Amino acid sequence: MDKQKKIVSMFDEIAKTYDLANRVLSFGIDKSWRRKACEKCFDYYGKKSLDLIADVATGTGDMCIYWDKIAKEKKIDIKNIIGIDPSEGMLNIAKSKNINAKFLKGEAKDLPLEDESADIVSISYGLRNVVDRIEALLEFNRVLKDGGLLVILEFTKLKEENFISKIRDFYMKKVLPFIGGLLSKNYEAYSYLPNSIENFLTKEMLIEELKKSGFEVLEAKGYSMNISTMFIARKI
Ligand SMILES: C[S@@+](CC[C@H](N)C(=O)[O-])C[C@H]1O[C@@H](n2cnc3c(N)ncnc32)[C@H](O)[C@@H]1O
Repeated sequence: MDKQKKIVSMFDEIAKTYDLANRVLSFGIDKSWRRKACEKCFDYYGKKSLDLIADVATGTGDMCIYWDKIAKEKKIDIKNIIGIDPSEGMLNIAKSKNINAKFLKGEAKDLPLEDESADIVSISYGLRNVVDRIEALLEFNRVLKDGGLLVILEFTKLKEENFISKIRDFYMKKVLPFIGGLLSKNYEAYSYLPNSIENFLTKEMLIEELKKSGFEVLEAKGYSMNISTMFIARKI
């Protein structure tokens, strides 16, 4: 099986326990990372009426919940929210959650969307799993309207080792596979997470890739002692 297929089938396997494991393992902090990303993005975009927000690698659809919720709080009208993911297992959970969004099967590098149709594209904790990352960034550019925004939330590789990074590493490499493995009964899937972070980019490297893929980076900021990084970039 090729690498990308293997990653997607791993998500199929852990789909049923994904939400529970996520809440336990992040102590619920991911909620504040998601909220902040949506709020900032709406503020940068400035419009009160949007045609489409596409959430790529949507998984069980949590980011779609936040787009809908925060748009309502800010009195922003969104015609369509679409969550896209190649894993049917994850999509089935998303569809069972009564989210105000449509869910479609699809890969980041080949989105089932028209050119220049989206106001915002988001991808939360998904880019690390996309093997053909540059193709995916170019694809996000294709589906975004001119001036549209791309929001990425991701666990980036830390540039330098320090006390905090050592704690994060211990948590990611030891605690997370153990608890995630117990909850999902799939230790291998939860050992994949720390490895995928180590094989991923630093914040600075991803900024360069975004620039090369037709984006102007408006903000790249670490949260909770740089555990999670948020990128907001504009299509130019
Ligand atoms: C860690 S989950 C994140 C899910 C969700 N965005 C969240 O924030 O909870 C990663 C998701 O990426 C999806 N994925 C893996 N490879 C992908 C690809 N090539 N294109 C799009 N999504 C992909 C997986 O199926 C999985 O649902």
